[in-house]
Amino acid sequence: MTSSPLTPRPDAVVGSVDRRLFGSFVEHLGRCVYSGIYEPSHPSADALGFRGDVLELVRELGVTTIRYPGGNFVSSYRWEDGVGPLEERPVRLDLNWHSTDTNEFGTDEFMAWCAAAGVEPMMAVNIGTRGTAEALDLLEYCNHPGGTALSDARRANGAQNPYNVRMWCLGNEMDGPWQVGHMTPEQYAHAAADMARTMHKFDPTIELVACGSSGTGMATFGTWERAVLDACFDEVDFISAHAYYDPTVSDLESFLRSSDNMDRFIRTVVDIADEVAAARGSDKRIAISFDEWNVWRMASPTNPMPSGDDWPIAPALLEDVYTVADAVVVGSLLITLLRHANRVRAASLAQLVNVIAPIMTEPGGSAWRQTTFYPFSITASLAGETVLETPRPSEHVDAVVTWDGERDVTVFAVNLDAGAGHDLVLDLAGLGDVAGAEVALVTDPDPLATNTADAPDRVTPAWGSAIVTGATVTVALPAVSWAAVRVTLR
Ligand code: AHR
Repeated sequence: MTSSPLTPRPDAVVGSVDRRLFGSFVEHLGRCVYSGIYEPSHPSADALGFRGDVLELVRELGVTTIRYPGGNFVSSYRWEDGVGPLEERPVRLDLNWHSTDTNEFGTDEFMAWCAAAGVEPMMAVNIGTRGTAEALDLLEYCNHPGGTALSDARRANGAQNPYNVRMWCLGNEMDGPWQVGHMTPEQYAHAAADMARTMHKFDPTIELVACGSSGTGMATFGTWERAVLDACFDEVDFISAHAYYDPTVSDLESFLRSSDNMDRFIRTVVDIADEVAAARGSDKRIAISFDEWNVWRMASPTNPMPSGDDWPIAPALLEDVYTVADAVVVGSLLITLLRHANRVRAASLAQLVNVIAPIMTEPGGSAWRQTTFYPFSITASLAGETVLETPRPSEHVDAVVTWDGERDVTVFAVNLDAGAGHDLVLDLAGLGDVAGAEVALVTDPDPLATNTADAPDRVTPAWGSAIVTGATVTVALPAVSWAAVRVTLR
């Protein structure tokens, strides 16, 4: 079956693509840090203990920002534990993930790792067990050039120049009853507004992200955003959104349509933000930082949580093995983020390595790409500068069109039909003459196929050419597939 043609026009523009849409997330959780990005004894590790094989894959993935150090972890984290001489760093329990953290890896290691990976750091501060004073200390430690106790401590720890971290998250998921320091909307709104105002006294140009909702299913969804923006509107640039989609709680057809929920989430938050702006007579547009999103088998955990007297260091946690269907959903979630590029100005795939991640490692062994690696890496590398407005082509096929303003048009598409293939038809006459088109396709006769340490390349993208007839490009999308179509105009 053929879907309606997509007919992008140069004057129907959604907005520019902020490269921060292609961010990810590193939390002190499971093996994301320890034996993920950091493993001094690994054969590929550099002098700082960073795994070289993982750094290579991170660069290939094309991530632009990394949110750190959590996640739930941040809500009881003492950042001072993770700086200074290694032998003086305290070993602590992490109550969020029932684990032990050696604090071998902390802020300075993270900043050095970001520099090695070529990514922008995005820091979260603890508003659960701590507050404005400790957030200010961390900000000064990171961003003040020198001449104060905290900035000189950073210099003594080896970083002469300030890190100039631009984006700061005011806590994490404070709407969640699972969060250490969980707050009501009013409590969080008050605490975040105070923190934001004071952080801006240090530097009015840093970009602040207020916590939004941890999903549309939260009892406070909507009322939370309104209360937080009413209090923080003048001080924050972003409100966050978090969403995870679980293949184990519905049938395949419903799971494949996960992006419908993300789409509704974004539209609702935008409406609330604009109502708050209108009530104040303001033209300011609050952006969304979708700083946790992914597929996660949360209801049927892949690894058991430690409990009782067992407080392991870097246990295997949340090590979901992703299928082709999961990759298609990840691709469709990216399409949704791009479709809202004018308002979603930052996003973080949660997480980067081992923990619900596109990259997996074995301690002391290999690193490989999960199925979900491919839609992310290809979208990050091929997305053009601008998103063009197009309607959804059909019930089963979703797509988004990006353009570089000249000769490159890239369309990302999914076929969410589990039972049949559909053709995607692009009518590009409004943009120019088509010189050629190539397609990267992620699909498999078995939608549950996965990549593993033993078969790391079981699922890879297939590259081929599309059918071009005049200004029309036709791409066959098999059942459960994701595609990137790269069109060159004459
Ligand atoms: O990404 C895993 C966890 O999911 C994060 O720690 C938390 O913020 C969210 O609930």
